[in-house]
Amino acid sequence: MDEREAEDEPGSDSSDVDQPQTVDQPDASGGTAVVVRDAVADPGLPPHRERVTDLHSGAERRAERTVYTLFYLSLVGSIFAIIAYMAFPIIPEDPGSVRLNNLYIGLGLTLALLGLGIGAVHWGKTLMPNREGIDERHPIRGAGETRERAVEIFQEANEESGIGRRTLIRNSLLAALIAFPLPAVVLFRGLAPMDTDPSALLRQTLWTTGTRLARDPSGTPIKAADVTLGSAFQVIPEGLQDLERGRLEEKAKSAVLLIRLGPEEINATPERKDWSYDGIVAYSKICTHVGCPVALYEQRTKRLLCPCHQSQFDVPNQCAVVFGPAARPLPQLPITVDEEGFLIAQSDFTEPIGPSFWERG
Ligand code: FES
Repeated sequence: MDEREAEDEPGSDSSDVDQPQTVDQPDASGGTAVVVRDAVADPGLPPHRERVTDLHSGAERRAERTVYTLFYLSLVGSIFAIIAYMAFPIIPEDPGSVRLNNLYIGLGLTLALLGLGIGAVHWGKTLMPNREGIDERHPIRGAGETRERAVEIFQEANEESGIGRRTLIRNSLLAALIAFPLPAVVLFRGLAPMDTDPSALLRQTLWTTGTRLARDPSGTPIKAADVTLGSAFQVIPEGLQDLERGRLEEKAKSAVLLIRLGPEEINATPERKDWSYDGIVAYSKICTHVGCPVALYEQRTKRLLCPCHQSQFDVPNQCAVVFGPAARPLPQLPITVDEEGFLIAQSDFTEPIGPSFWERG
């Protein structure tokens, strides 16, 4: 021990109190080693304390009652959520019904989750064995002995948790766990109404033969003469504004971008030659990547740009994808004019609008 270490020994000198916790070793080869000389001693485990449920069988029974009551409360919560889903349906155009529906389903699910969680914690803290153990570190490899020991541990856990012995707890836990996913089943089922074919809902829009193209949001029909060269704006089917139910859903499918090019700029395939009128073309506004509204039109390049992931569509070339992750062109709405000069649809879109998950046939 060198002179400096002797001076620094705890208790040898009152000046120790103000000494730093580490010292540089001037004689260490290389010269930068730092030695911790005052490591904190391992305090060990505190003395074992028995729980009240270890000492009194009455307290143990009370804890058991509490645990299975909580699991049954969870069961009640799950059932309540299902009943609330049916008793408080969401009525279109009625925000109050949405509030009630969310409130009661949320309360049921909260009770279900809290009952399960608190019950499991209470079970572990009051009834499962209470003893301190030391888990020695060992190499991470699946030796035969280790696997055998793992099986033993599982068997011990099975014994110690008393899941076979405490039938009320086991049954209530099983009932609560089985019931808990049920609200999710009915909630997801609600996404696909029984009385309609969800696939048909997505395949059809409000556009039909003769439907006039109307300004959004006023709903006034548009004459071909009103569409100036180079302009681009959003149109909707006439009559959409008068829908009592599902107006937003229909609008999300039917929104169309109307653009006027020079008639000679349009490169249409033979079957689409008469889908435009005097340079006016109409394309779905719903991006074929993941369905964002294609909202930007660059007049110089005549490209439509989707702001979500930057897909670009070449309007003169049937909105072919020229950049970005979209996999197919924007669907085109065939248009013409009626005898009064108003722009009308020749039919619905001839392909599904929106993202490219469709079977394309
Ligand atoms: S949604 Fe349009 S590019 Fe992704």
